[in-house]
Amino acid sequence: MATYVVVGLQYGDEGKGKITDVLSAKSDYVVRFQGGDNAGHTVYAGEEKFVLHLLPSGVLQCPGKCIIANGVVVNPKAFMHEISQIEEKGMRTDHVFISRRAHVIMPYHILLDTYREEEEGGTQIGTTKKGIGPCYEDKIARVGIRMVDLLNPEVLAEKIRKNLKIKNSLFEKYFEKPGIEFEEIYKEFLEIGQKLKHRIVDTEVELNQAIHDGKNILFEGAQALMLDIDFGTYPYVTSSSPSTGGVCTGAGVPPTSLQNLIGVAKVYTTRVGNGPFPTELNDELGEKMRKVGQEFGATTGRPRRTGWLDLVSLKHATMINGINNLVITKLDVLSGISSLKIATKYKTEDGKIIDYFTSSTTKLYNYEPIYEELEGWDEDISHARTYDELPNNAKKYIEFIEDYLGINVYLVSVGPERSQNIIRKELF
Ligand code: GDP
Ligand code: IMO
Ligand code: MG
Repeated sequence: MATYVVVGLQYGDEGKGKITDVLSAKSDYVVRFQGGDNAGHTVYAGEEKFVLHLLPSGVLQCPGKCIIANGVVVNPKAFMHEISQIEEKGMRTDHVFISRRAHVIMPYHILLDTYREEEEGGTQIGTTKKGIGPCYEDKIARVGIRMVDLLNPEVLAEKIRKNLKIKNSLFEKYFEKPGIEFEEIYKEFLEIGQKLKHRIVDTEVELNQAIHDGKNILFEGAQALMLDIDFGTYPYVTSSSPSTGGVCTGAGVPPTSLQNLIGVAKVYTTRVGNGPFPTELNDELGEKMRKVGQEFGATTGRPRRTGWLDLVSLKHATMINGINNLVITKLDVLSGISSLKIATKYKTEDGKIIDYFTSSTTKLYNYEPIYEELEGWDEDISHARTYDELPNNAKKYIEFIEDYLGINVYLVSVGPERSQNIIRKELF
C-alpha cells in the first residue's frame, strides 16, 4: 500500500500542480478531494504550459485513473471546457472520472458569489467568483444538486425548482437583480448529464479496493491550510478543508490508509484575495518577488500579494496536517537578494511574544512578525539537480526551515519545469 497526499501549507499557489504532475508519472490514481475550479494548478511539460482548474494535475502523465472525488464541487461546464482544451493538445482524457456524490456548481451559485463580492459595504473575501462558497453552503444545508441528480430528470427538476424559489427571491428582493428561469437551466443541465454520464461513477469503493490492492494513490489538494475553513484566517478562507484530514471525508478513505503526507511551501509567501498577511512586503522587494516569481493568479490573473516566509503559520499548517515530508518550491526566485528574512515569532498588540498562530483574525492584522535574518546567495540555481550543487547559504536557508519545523525537506524545486527538482530522498 502506498498513498501520497500533496497539500498546500500557505495561502495557495505553492506549486502543488507541478509536484503532483511529477509524482503522477508513477501513480495508479490521482485524486482531487476538495475545492473546485477556484484552483489554478500550473504544469509545464517542455515548452507546453497547462493550467488545470478542476482536472487533477495527474491528467497529463498518470498512467492510471484521474478521479474527481465526492468532496469536490464541480462546475460541469468548466469541466467540459478543460477536457476539450486537453484533448485539443492531443492528450487523452478517457481516464478522468467524477464521483456521483460530488456536488454541482449551478449558475445561481456563481451569481450569488459574484453579487456578494460586488455588494457595497459587504465583507469582501476576494473570492474567485466561481460559486464555491454558495455550492458548499447548499451541500451542508442538504439542498445541493449532486452529479448523480443530473442523470435523473424528475429529481433534477424538483431540486432546481426548490432552489430557484429561494435563490430568485434573494436575487430579486435583496440584490435587486433579475432571477433565473427554470427552463433556462433545467434542459441545459439535463443535457450536460447525458454528455458526462460515462464519466459519472462511484469512486469510493474503487479507491478503497485500490488501497487494499497496494496501488499507488496520490491525493492532490487544492488551496492550502491557511485558507482552510476551520484552521485558516476565517472568514478570509475558502469553503472546504484543504488539509490532509479533508482527504478522508473528501474521497471516502480511512485515516489509517494515509501514509506519505507531503506539504508544499514556497520559500516566501504569497496570497491572492483579502485577509491578514503578517509578513507582507508592500515595497520594491515585494514587487521584485512578484516579477521574478511570476506571481499572478492562475485562475483570476490577479497580482498575488508577496512577502517573507512565515514559519509561525507554516508550523501551524504542518501541525494540523501531520506533514511528514516537506517540499519547498521557488528557491530560484530568492537568488540575488542579499539578506533574507524569515518570521519565527509574532509580537502581539500588547507586546507579548508568541510562536503560535492565532484564531483571532482581527488581531492578526496588528501582529508584528519577528524576523531572523539569513545571508542570501547570488548564483542562478535553476540548473542544480543535486543538493550539493546549491550554494552554502541556500542550504543554510533550507536547513533553518527543517530545524524550525522538525521535518525533512525531501524535494527542492528550482524552476517551473518538470525536471527542475532536487530530490533528496526517493519517496516512490
Ligand atoms: P498551485 O496552485 O499550488 O499548483 O501553484 P500555481 O500553479 O498556482 O502557482 C505556482 C507557480 O509557480 C506556477 O506558475 C508554477 O509554474 C511556478 N513554479 C512552481 N515551482 C516553481 C519553482 O520552483 N520555481 C519557479 N520559478 N517557479 C515555479
Ligand atoms: P490553488 O489550488 C490561491 C482564495 C481566493 C479568496 C479565497 C476564497 O491554485 O492554490 P473562493 O473562490 O475559494 O471562495 O475564494 O480563497 N483562493 C485561492 N488562492 N490559490 C487557490 O487555489 C485559491 N483558491 C481560492 O483568492 O481569497
Ligand atoms: Mg494556484
